[in-house]
Amino acid sequence: MTPGEIDQTVACFLTFTKLSKFKFTHTIKEMLFLLFLAGFIAFLAVFLFADADLLTLYYERFGLKADSLRGKVIWITGASSGIGEYTAYELSKVNCSLILSARRKSELERVASKCRTLGPVDVVVLPLDVTDATSQKNCFDKIIEQFGRIDVLYNNAGRSQQADALKTELKADHDIFDINFIYCISLAKIVLNHMKEIGSGQVAFTSSIAGKLGSPRQAMYCATKHALHGWVAATRFELGETDIILQLLCPGPVVSDIRKCSFTEVSGKEFGGEDPNAKKKMSTERCAKLMVVAVANKIGESWITKQPILLVTYIGQYIPVLFAW
Ligand SMILES: NC(=O)c1ccc[n+]([C@@H]2O[C@H](COP(=O)([O-])OP(=O)(O)OC[C@H]3O[C@@H](n4cnc5c(N)ncnc54)[C@H](OP(=O)(O)O)[C@@H]3O)[C@@H](O)[C@H]2O)c1
Repeated sequence: MTPGEIDQTVACFLTFTKLSKFKFTHTIKEMLFLLFLAGFIAFLAVFLFADADLLTLYYERFGLKADSLRGKVIWITGASSGIGEYTAYELSKVNCSLILSARRKSELERVASKCRTLGPVDVVVLPLDVTDATSQKNCFDKIIEQFGRIDVLYNNAGRSQQADALKTELKADHDIFDINFIYCISLAKIVLNHMKEIGSGQVAFTSSIAGKLGSPRQAMYCATKHALHGWVAATRFELGETDIILQLLCPGPVVSDIRKCSFTEVSGKEFGGEDPNAKKKMSTERCAKLMVVAVANKIGESWITKQPILLVTYIGQYIPVLFAW
């Protein structure tokens, strides 16, 4: 090879490496961009069809299953219909001890019978009006007498509201606050004091997306659920050193009797009627399944709702200024 040819070869090689370097970095950038785009599209697709916050859906797929609750003593209030009823069915599939409470004994018996057909569950019916503090203590004593402990209180009993905020009489405001907050907390306190003694336990509250955002004609209902969030946030500090978990489970619209049994502007008058939006709501089965995922995985706060309410909840949580008009 002549020196001229060597120079030419070196020049060619340098040009080639420069070009290929350029192509190489160019290709990496393109690949990274495509990867990011694919990830983003996949995320959007998942989010579009999500019916719970992403952590809850992650736990549904990869977290503890319902059978991690095997052997637990679980007290469910509001178990005679709706979300409480279907959560009892989900829990019946694992071998745990269930105590079902609500006011209507016959409905509780119906739910208990169905639970026994679903799995090897030990079910006890314990009628309770949650607004009666003495009955709460009596029920608690009976459970301790029979089972010796309570591992999970699923504090779910509650009623909604269909009423104009400014026209609602004071007694009706008191009624809804009593059921959804004051007596819900009084029951939680009885059970939490017991859990402190035994050193562990879990209290799950059925809050609502209405406990995160506002909802029309439900001013006092929203207030009761927001109040739960405040109480839980503060009480978590007091329980900080213990193995006791407080959970806020927040469903969006779910098929149940909630609308029919809603409070109105007038104390003692139920809203009644059929729910025209039932078809658009999440099924009670699906909600109950996700409730059990949240309980099994001890998720602190779980949002269980379809789109677009899920998106609105994320915006409300992370860009609250958009809601402050
Ligand atoms: N469905 C939804 O769209 C939705 C959305 C967000 C949150 N939530 C919450 O989910 C929880 C359950 O509601 P749901 O939708 O399942 O409605 P539901 O079908 O009307 O069930 C309400 C349950 O609460 C019980 N209850 C009502 N007043 C009571 C009292 N004074 N003492 C004891 N139990 C009482 C009822 O039983 P008795 O009548 O036999 O007492 C019933 O078992 C409520 O806390 C509600 O706020 C529901």
